[in-house]
This record gives sequence, C-alpha cells and structure tokens, in this order.
Amino acid sequence: MNLYINCSPKIKNSNSEYFTQLIKSDNDIINYIYKDNFELIKKNISIYKNIIFVFPLYMDTFPSKLIEFMENFNNKLINKNIYIICNCGFLEYRQNFLAIDTFIYWINKKKGFFKGYLNIGSGEIIGITKKNKFLSLFCHDFFKKIKIFKCYINNEKSINLNTNIKWLNKRLFCIICNHFWKKRIK
Ligand SMILES: Cc1cc2nc3c(=O)[nH]c(=O)nc-3n(C[C@H](O)[C@H](O)[C@H](O)COP(=O)(O)O)c2cc1C
Repeated sequence: MNLYINCSPKIKNSNSEYFTQLIKSDNDIINYIYKDNFELIKKNISIYKNIIFVFPLYMDTFPSKLIEFMENFNNKLINKNIYIICNCGFLEYRQNFLAIDTFIYWINKKKGFFKGYLNIGSGEIIGITKKNKFLSLFCHDFFKKIKIFKCYINNEKSINLNTNIKWLNKRLFCIICNHFWKKRIK
C-alpha cells in the first residue's frame, strides 16, 4: 500500500489529483497538504513504506504549505521509499529540475531513500485531457510513462522519468493555452 501526498492548493480539483488518480491503486490512500492536519500526514508517513509527494511548480518552487510542512517535519524518513511527481505549467519539464533537486536534498537530509521522480512539463494542458480526449493524442508519452512509473512504485524500484506534451512547438502551445485560459476567465 502506498501513501500519496497531494500538495496542490487546488486539492481535489488539481492536476496533481488527476495524475495521482491515474497512478494509484484502489487500496492506496491520499492525504492533502492543504486539507489534512499535518499530524495526521506525519502519522501516515510513519505507517506507509512507499510515499509519493505530488506537487505543482508555483513561482519556480513548491506551494507554500509544502514548504511549511518540510520546515515542520522534525521526524526522519528512515526506511521510507520516497517518490516525487512534479508538474509545471510551462511546456518544458526542465522548469521543474531545481524544485526536484531541492526536494531530493530534503529527502536525503531526512535520511529517506529517494526512489525516483515523474517530471511533467505542460501539466496544465495535460490536465485538460481529463475532459478533452482529443488532446490525449498529443500526450501518448505521458500516458506511457504514467504506466511505467506505477509499475516501478509498486515494485519499489528506482526510476526517473521526464515527459511533456509532444508534437507541439512553443507557438502552438501558446495558442492552445491562451484559448483555454481565456475560456476559464470568462
Ligand atoms: C501562483 C502560480 C504560480 C505558478 N508558477 C509556475 C512556474 O513558476 N512555472 C511553471 O511552469 N508553472 C507555474 N504555474 C503553473 C502550474 O504549475 C500548473 O498550472 C500546474 O499544472 C498546477 O498544478 P495543480 O493543478 O496540481 O496545482 C503556476 C501556477 C500558479 C497558480
């Protein structure tokens, strides 16, 4: 059984939640940094062996409650397998590298066993595939890597994967983003 920790302020409406639902098994549980008590999350961390932190990139770093959680986490992560799923809005997954590296530093400091990451670029657009199946055509690499990542978590194996929306250049990406964002503002 695995513990997923959703670190998005959008809680259940987040892209992080969508990605988690695609990966998690029925008996896995999800805690929410923006909803659940920190003490409950800490207790669950002490129970579960595989822990997956799922967070978006905000202002090139972690959402503020995740920073607060990391600062207040006085326990150790000894014997824990820690995985990361990080997604950002920009097209390029390389935007996430600094945040992922910082998180790995924290895991190591807490004596946890860093097992790998799924690094998602263009997360906001990929999130739209939940409702818009046409966009899924551009996301075959994402869906393939989701399956691989799930397998590796369940087998407690190490893996680092990067993915983003394919066959889109930056110009087309901006056109699609503007279309959806304008719709949302309305
Ligand atoms: C306040 C704010 C700051 C953001 N900063 C960045 C950023 O620095 N780089 C980036 O690529 N995306 C940024 N984004 C986009 C989010 O990473 C993106 O929308 C992501 O899919 C949100 O995931 P979530 O739904 O799980 O919260 C930002 C979004 C918000 C609302």
